[in-house]
Amino acid sequence: MSATSGATISRGCRLEIEGLAKNYGDVAAISDVTLTVPPGALITLLGPSGCGKTTLMRSIAGFVSPDRGRIALDGRDLLALPPERRSTAMLFQNYSLFPHMTVAANVGFGLRMHGVRRAEAEPRIAEALRLTRIAELADRHPGQLSGGQQQRVALARALVTRPDILLLDEPFGALDQSLREEVQIELRKLQQSLGITTLVVTHDQLEALTLSDLVAVMNAGRIEQIGPPIEIYDRPNTAFVAKFMGVENLVPVRLGARDGDRMRVAAGSLEALVRLHTTAGVVDSAILAVRADAVEIASPGEPGTVAARIAFATNRGSSALYEVTTDDGQNLQASEDRRGGTLRALGSRVGVRLRGEACCLVTG
Ligand SMILES: Nc1ncnc2c1ncn2[C@@H]1O[C@H](COP(=O)(O)OP(=O)(O)OP(=O)(O)O)[C@@H](O)[C@H]1O
Ligand SMILES: [Mg+2]
Repeated sequence: MSATSGATISRGCRLEIEGLAKNYGDVAAISDVTLTVPPGALITLLGPSGCGKTTLMRSIAGFVSPDRGRIALDGRDLLALPPERRSTAMLFQNYSLFPHMTVAANVGFGLRMHGVRRAEAEPRIAEALRLTRIAELADRHPGQLSGGQQQRVALARALVTRPDILLLDEPFGALDQSLREEVQIELRKLQQSLGITTLVVTHDQLEALTLSDLVAVMNAGRIEQIGPPIEIYDRPNTAFVAKFMGVENLVPVRLGARDGDRMRVAAGSLEALVRLHTTAGVVDSAILAVRADAVEIASPGEPGTVAARIAFATNRGSSALYEVTTDDGQNLQASEDRRGGTLRALGSRVGVRLRGEACCLVTG
């Protein structure tokens, strides 16, 4: 990974977590979490509220003591070290900026805590402000900043300590959608140029896809699937992951004949030839994950389609989203490019077919 900016370059540490568990009374906040983040990679932890994302992050930072397991940075045992010696920096959702301090003082706070002398601290603060593009705000107070600017201050404060691991817990939660997308891209560029191994917590699947080298989808304290974003998007292993990655239709299917790496499946009168992925166990499953754009809408009676009617129609900008009901009672969400046209009429007759190559068998 290339690095462009002098002293802040991180050598990029490998983070290894093995069998990590933390219980609060009867609640297993995390159970048996194992993952490896390669040097300089960005991993997002994605999952519903309460699934253990913050607990995992706080365990790495040292604010939570796990009951079992191991955390190592480049082979060094982290759990043996107190938080201040772990060389991690964590950015909290509410940023926790000090309202009575200027931006520069907020950014320099961690350095003062570490006893870094003023002569050394000043250029480092200036560099962090420059990297996050807020140099001109150095003398303002947090109350005089927009949400996006406060977010940059919090990021500068995390970077200024030159951490080996950057931990960002829902860093964009307080920003509106368009600013969020802009800041996501900016963070990704900065993280890549600095080469800092980074963990980001999010609820938002699109954010995870935008930012990550790796996505870990968590469910009830466990990692349900981990992999590159495109793999998680295209080939979820379980119905939970599929749903979390925005798959609109989870259709119980009967498994039919196998043909090489493909298998025929059927749900009522709907049939599809789907590719089997090598993942063990999937062959026994009987749920088909079908994105709305894998349901093709054709003219009624077209060969290879099943008779259906449009039960609901709504506009999604460049595409239309429909609910179609087949004559034998299957409900499916289907999306279609509008190509500048209007929506199909409610109640109109159509034919539908599944694009098998875009569907995926998952376990329940
Ligand atoms: N200090 C604590 N004491 C007791 N229970 C806790 C504590 N911290 C977390 N928990 C519980 O552990 C589970 C995981 O919490 P955690 O904060 O890690 O979830 P999360 O995935 O970050 O959720 P969110 O998306 O809402 O932030 C939850 O059931 C939570 O109630
Ligand atoms: Mg949390």
